[in-house]
Amino acid sequence: MEKITSQEFQRLIRSCQVLEKDGHGEKVLRRHDGIIIKIFRRKRLLSSALLYPYARRFVHNVDKLRALSVPTMQVVKTGHCKNPQRDLVWYQPVPGQTLRACLQGETSPQLISALGTFVGKLHQKGILFRSLHFGNIIVGENGGFGLIDVADMRFSSRSLALSARQRNFFHMTRYHEDRVALNDHMEKFVQSYLAATTMPIRDLEQLSAWLLEASWIRREEPS
Ligand SMILES: Nc1ncnc2c1ncn2[C@@H]1O[C@H](COP(=O)(O)OP(=O)(O)O)[C@@H](O)[C@H]1O
Ligand SMILES: [Mg+2]
Repeated sequence: MEKITSQEFQRLIRSCQVLEKDGHGEKVLRRHDGIIIKIFRRKRLLSSALLYPYARRFVHNVDKLRALSVPTMQVVKTGHCKNPQRDLVWYQPVPGQTLRACLQGETSPQLISALGTFVGKLHQKGILFRSLHFGNIIVGENGGFGLIDVADMRFSSRSLALSARQRNFFHMTRYHEDRVALNDHMEKFVQSYLAATTMPIRDLEQLSAWLLEASWIRREEPS
């Protein structure tokens, strides 16, 4: 990790466009040349982030995703600033726009169906992406999907078990606007998801019934 001085950190923020910001400061920047800079705050004094910084996890997950042929960003470099305590990752964006932006104002059965296939393939590959929601899925110009914001994932050498898949559907539908967009073409989503899924027949039947019953998406509060 490159060392970033306080002055360099402040200069970086001043010279970039701020894409995301919260009460603790800037979270995502865009440089003039299109490079995106993600800024991680170490949240608690004693946290696993001290031993294994989010920026490292992020880079590790990017590598794993590439190895599994899932489109994601191209990491350029990582850095650390002591004051304020921040880890930074510079990367080339995934070309395209977020699925949430794509679905704004128009519902697209093709897109929702393709999403089912994409999520089905992630689960088959043993990828549990806990931040899976429509703001972290990029739709490319060719209609293919990619992932961003990949600090929080788990990889397993086998395809995901039934319970992990169910949990991930709750992650995916954390935001009301995503649920509304998905709900319009729910059956298409489930159909294409199941077509991309292999699991023991009993589990498959159980999952299929659970997905089609759709209480997971109609909930009013995130769980
Ligand atoms: N790789 C990327 N490709 C395209 N847009 C990106 C990329 N990374 C970030 N962005 C833009 O930045 C925004 C937030 O990035 P993200 O990493 O999801 O941060 P946050 O922690 O705020 O969710 C996205 O909504 C998107 O508009
Ligand atoms: Mg995000």
